[in-house]
Amino acid sequence: MLLPKPTLLALSLLFQQVLSVPPSNDGISHPRSKKCVIPSQYRSSHGTADDTPAIARAFAQCATDATIIFQHGVNYNLFTPLSATNLSNVEIRMHGNLHLPQDIPTVQAIVASGHPTWITLSGPRIDWTGSPDPQTSWINSYGQAWWDANPPKSAGLPNRPHLISYTTSHASIQHFRSRKPIAWTMKLHGSDITVQNAIIDASSSSPSSFPFNTDGFDIQGSRISITTSTFHNGDDAIAVGTNSHDILFAHNTLGYETHGMSIGSLGKDPSAPANISNLLFKDITVTGGLYAARFKSWSGGQGLVRNVTWQDIRVHNVTFPIFVTQSYVDQNADRPAPDDPSSAVMMQDFTWANFSGDINSFHPGDGSCVTDPCWYDVGLPNLNHTEAVIIQCHTESSCRNFVTENIRLRPQNREPAAVVCVNAMAALNPDLGFDCKNGTFVPLSD
Ligand SMILES: *[C@@H]1O[C@H](CO)[C@@H](O)[C@H](O)[C@H]1NC(C)=O
Ligand SMILES: *[C@@H]1O[C@H](CO)[C@@H](O)[C@H](O)[C@H]1NC(C)=O
Ligand SMILES: *[C@@H]1O[C@H](CO)[C@@H](O)[C@H](O)[C@H]1NC(C)=O
Ligand SMILES: *[C@@H]1O[C@H](CO)[C@@H](O)[C@H](O)[C@H]1NC(C)=O
Ligand SMILES: *[C@@H]1O[C@H](CO)[C@@H](O)[C@H](O)[C@H]1NC(C)=O
Ligand SMILES: *[C@@H]1O[C@H](CO)[C@@H](O)[C@H](O)[C@H]1NC(C)=O
Ligand SMILES: *[C@@H]1O[C@H](CO)[C@@H](O)[C@H](O)[C@H]1NC(C)=O
Repeated sequence: MLLPKPTLLALSLLFQQVLSVPPSNDGISHPRSKKCVIPSQYRSSHGTADDTPAIARAFAQCATDATIIFQHGVNYNLFTPLSATNLSNVEIRMHGNLHLPQDIPTVQAIVASGHPTWITLSGPRIDWTGSPDPQTSWINSYGQAWWDANPPKSAGLPNRPHLISYTTSHASIQHFRSRKPIAWTMKLHGSDITVQNAIIDASSSSPSSFPFNTDGFDIQGSRISITTSTFHNGDDAIAVGTNSHDILFAHNTLGYETHGMSIGSLGKDPSAPANISNLLFKDITVTGGLYAARFKSWSGGQGLVRNVTWQDIRVHNVTFPIFVTQSYVDQNADRPAPDDPSSAVMMQDFTWANFSGDINSFHPGDGSCVTDPCWYDVGLPNLNHTEAVIIQCHTESSCRNFVTENIRLRPQNREPAAVVCVNAMAALNPDLGFDCKNGTFVPLSD
């Protein structure tokens, strides 16, 4: 059939527009017809000018149905916080590199004046597309100076910013790269979000300074996946908070002094019950670090965490490969006393399968210990650092259907692997896979 020329032209324009846009992951295509290319004064000012006004202008002008472009290989100073909370259907094409101020007091003053977060993004369908080029797409926060300046026995300088708070839905985050974040990297809230090829590098170049609170992703939401990513940090690579459902963390590499794959802490505020289900942590290598798989909730907590699996986990030189406590208390924390200290955040249908590797028995712990005893030893017996599994259930009914399977973890000192286990009762946990008591870890084969 022959179509009149104007119709053909209109159709081809339509297709060009649609084809230039990757279909977003709600299955519908949302054209992004506007484009804002952000200029940089970095070169002309020899790295001294603040590019934040130009960046903020682009985020305002291209707030809807648009692509915001940080040019390939170009440096941008982000000397003041950026807040874009009315975005909708925007691609942030991060092909340049961002630089936070290098001067500590400058950042502290900004945080203290009411800006706890450096970058705030929110709205539906906010894609972040970094470049596959490993030289670009970095957010440089110059955290090393902060870690070096932290006085002995203190857990980080005051007025450290969270790097980025990202609230969205139906979005994809590709090649997100954070170098030496001052502290927490990304608070990721929302639903239907895929993160791929992220790199969080918070390893300290000085053995005497520790990168406190350098969490990777603090998650709250539904249907969020984080895959093929790398974390070298000094706190949780992922921390799942309430409420969260259907979270996948797979094919990732963790290392340096990481605190691993965490749930919690939960139940601190007993009036906000935990509600978490369907978490899968799979095919992960953890090299160095304090924890690999961890659950932490407060004594007196409320709520339920259900259907959680860590499987195919390879550890090397990890202090606490498998760790659960439902009895966390912190004498120093400003927390109301629970109405019922005997209550706990309930845990149900938890599986730990296919763990292999070695336990750090010669140099256990890490530089996050600034108290005596270390925060991570509180409530534990004198450990031999041969413990493959530590499970502390708060009550005899707060842990149900725990399953361990094929746990092959060996202490570096060649002693037998040990277990600390409290209150995971056999009747409620028929497939626990070992006897819940303290001592040598003896897997039960059935
Ligand atoms: C978003 O906010 C910016 C700055 O606050 C404003 O200029 C812009 O018009 C807003 N866009 C929409 C779509 O509301
Ligand atoms: C937990 O969250 C799910 C999903 O949002 C919801 O359907 C359920 O009602 C919640 N349960 C409780 C006890 O709040
Ligand atoms: C448990 O979680 C997994 C994802 O890890 C999911 O595939 C499965 O359907 C969930 N099972 C139940 C009973 O909800
Ligand atoms: C294990 O990690 C500690 C730091 O926590 C380090 O001192 C030690 O050399 C590492 N051991 C091995 C065998 O890698
Ligand atoms: C554990 O690994 C074995 C062999 O590698 C595999 O057959 C099994 O399905 C794995 N189990 C789980 C729960 O991943
Ligand atoms: C096992 O160790 C835990 C943790 O210190 C302790 O609370 C518990 O009483 C011990 N269990 C036994 C039977 O000694
Ligand atoms: C540590 O090892 C000693 C000697 O083997 C043993 O008596 C003690 O119970 C072990 N401690 C723990 C917490 O397993």
